[in-house]
Amino acid sequence: MKIGNLELNERSAILAPMAGVADRAFRELCVSYGAGYVVSEMVSSKGLTMHDRKSKELLFLSEKERPAAAQIFGDNPEIMAKSAVACLEFRPEVIDINMGCPAPKIAGNGGGAALMKDPQKAEDIIRAVVDAVDIPVTVKIRAGWDKDSVNAVEMAQRAERAGASAVTVHGRTKMQMYAPPVDLGIIAQVKKSVDIPVIGNGDITDGLSAAKMLEETGCDMVMVGRGALGRPWVFSQIQAFLNHEAILPEPPVSERMTVMVRHIRLLCQYKGERVGIREARKHAAWYIKGIRGAAKYRQQVGALESIEQLEELAYTICRENL
Ligand SMILES: Cc1cc2nc3c(=O)[nH]c(=O)nc-3n(C[C@H](O)[C@H](O)[C@H](O)COP(=O)(O)O)c2cc1C
Repeated sequence: MKIGNLELNERSAILAPMAGVADRAFRELCVSYGAGYVVSEMVSSKGLTMHDRKSKELLFLSEKERPAAAQIFGDNPEIMAKSAVACLEFRPEVIDINMGCPAPKIAGNGGGAALMKDPQKAEDIIRAVVDAVDIPVTVKIRAGWDKDSVNAVEMAQRAERAGASAVTVHGRTKMQMYAPPVDLGIIAQVKKSVDIPVIGNGDITDGLSAAKMLEETGCDMVMVGRGALGRPWVFSQIQAFLNHEAILPEPPVSERMTVMVRHIRLLCQYKGERVGIREARKHAAWYIKGIRGAAKYRQQVGALESIEQLEELAYTICRENL
């Protein structure tokens, strides 16, 4: 499948943009497990145009996490266009526009999912961004704002008309937030209504759910968010399944702990140990989910202060789960 001239392996899955989670360390890890494409955490268009240091830090893309999109959010066509140009410094392969975020801080200011309520403004933003950069522009939308205003088809058609090279559809409304079910029907309708590639997103956790999304919606590729938390190997499971090679089981506890330590080491390398360990706590909690004794370990995870403590905990968990 192609986003503009960018060729992607449609039998791999895409790592979803996840603010506060899918940072440089996690993206790199997911690519090493076969993620075919990754999207940055959302970055404020206003912040970028005001040269905010934190916004720029979110956009650093190394060679180990490619191909990659830089995702921007905002509600002003001109500022969005300027911020897309500012992203180019980090050489993303694609610019992605966030039109799905339900968080009050974003949607309450007219950006993210609020644009689902204003399709004309959404189209103006997409056109402004497309005109401003010479790399492909994509759009990430939800099914609609609420169940009475499901308009993903209209949004996708407007995106295509404005020059977008692909559209990702998270099959839930804004009001649903992250509650089940995911509406595969609306993703199928979007696929039928546009010629640009459609990426299906929502509740994919393994090869089977990825294949179901592809089959039932006809979408071109799948995107995985929460299914990758504490499980970056989900990308190799999906690839193996879609290539009809194997149904890969969850790795044993020892391997899970090894990956956790590798992940947190990367996090500390890129953000420094103080920030890295603080952020590591939530990742570690995901890595130990479902392991025997998880409740006890979770308490220790909450008190982690150093990489040494993390390694010690990983060792204890391995020993107690032999
Ligand atoms: C912690 C978290 C952060 C997220 N941040 C973003 C974001 O920055 N941009 C975006 O477009 N979507 C964001 N999302 C939504 C995901 O990209 C994805 O659409 C959603 O989680 C549904 O996919 P899933 O069921 O595979 O998790 C976020 C989701 C989570 C759970």
